[in-house]
Amino acid sequence: MKQVNRSLILIGFMGTGKSTLGNVLAEKLNRQQVDLDDVIVKEQNMAISDIFARYGEAKFRELEHDVLCRYAAKPGLIISPGGGAALRAENRAVMKEHGIVISLWARPEVILERVNRDSVVRPVLENRKPGQSKLERIEEVLAERMPCYREADFMLDTSDESVDVLAAKVLAWLEDRAGEEA
Ligand code: S3P
Repeated sequence: MKQVNRSLILIGFMGTGKSTLGNVLAEKLNRQQVDLDDVIVKEQNMAISDIFARYGEAKFRELEHDVLCRYAAKPGLIISPGGGAALRAENRAVMKEHGIVISLWARPEVILERVNRDSVVRPVLENRKPGQSKLERIEEVLAERMPCYREADFMLDTSDESVDVLAAKVLAWLEDRAGEEA
C-alpha cells in the first residue's frame, strides 16, 4: 500500500487523548475517524464494562483483535483502538503492517485527571488491589505496557499541549516522513 493511503493508528494508554486527537486529525486530513471501542459497543450492543463483567477480559480481547484486524487493513482512516489493543504482539504486527502507528503518552497524574473527568467505566482501572489508589494502578499498568506502546513509528507526549498543537506536530512529522520516502 502507498504510504499516503495508510491509516493512522493512534495507540496509547487510557486518557492519553486517542479519540480527541483522532477527531482533530480526521478533520484536518479529511479522513474518517473510527474508535474501535465504539465499534465493539455497537456490534455487541453492550457497554465495554458489561462485556468485561459478563464475559471476562479474554473475550473482550478477542472482540478487540477481530475488530482491529478488520479495520487496520482499510486504507485512509484514523483509527483509535482501546488502550489495551497494543498488548498483543499479533495486534502490533497487524497495525505496523497496514498502518502508521502513533503512540500517545501522558504523565500518570494527567491520565488520572482525564479518566476521572469522563463517565466511562474502565474495568482495568477498577480492578485494584486492596488499598491501591487509582493513580498507583495507572502507574503500575502503564509501566507494564510501555514496552508495547514504544513499538510505534512516532511517540507523542500529550500531557501539556493543546490538541491543535499536537495535531500540528503529527502533521509535520507525516510531512517529513513523506519527504524522506519520496
Ligand atoms: C482498556 C482501555 C479502554 C477499553 C477497555 C480496556 C485497556 O479504552 O478498551 O476498558 O485495557 O487499556 P480507552 O483506552 O479508549 O479508554
